[in-house]
Amino acid sequence: MLKKIFLIYVMLSSVCCFAALSIAEEKGDQRKGKYFFRSNCRTCHKDGGTAKYLGPDSKTMAQWQKAFEKKQYAEFKCKAEWEKRSAEELLDIFTYLHKYAADSPSPAKCQ
Ligand code: HEC
Repeated sequence: MLKKIFLIYVMLSSVCCFAALSIAEEKGDQRKGKYFFRSNCRTCHKDGGTAKYLGPDSKTMAQWQKAFEKKQYAEFKCKAEWEKRSAEELLDIFTYLHKYAADSPSPAKCQ
């Protein structure tokens, strides 16, 4: 009996977990994110710019997650630039970078 309850518990919690994960990844609009990234971040983060080149493939999915979700950007030199963006814009930018990250199924540079 206890074993059964435990099994049901494990099954239910893994279903919830997968659902939560896929929602988290699909939250933003990656097309808008690409646009925002190009117009707000690439101004500095490009070859020959004031900061080093940065594109989705510059980091892994986990590294982008750390930068955005864990607010690691508070340590970056361009913290002020991040804070100018609305939460929605940041979510779109995150969705774009995360979707094409170095270890994603379709890594991409920012052209
Ligand atoms: C005014 C110029 C400027 C803008 C605009 C800017 N950054 Fe930066 N950013 C910098 C500089 C300078 C650094 C320090 C490191 C370097 O030279 O790349 C930095 C660092 C970073 C880092 C850490 C680099 C690393 O190697 O881990 C990330 C990630 C980053 N920026 C992302 C962004 C994002 C996303 C945006 C848009 C919301 C943005 N930046 C906008 C100038 C800028």
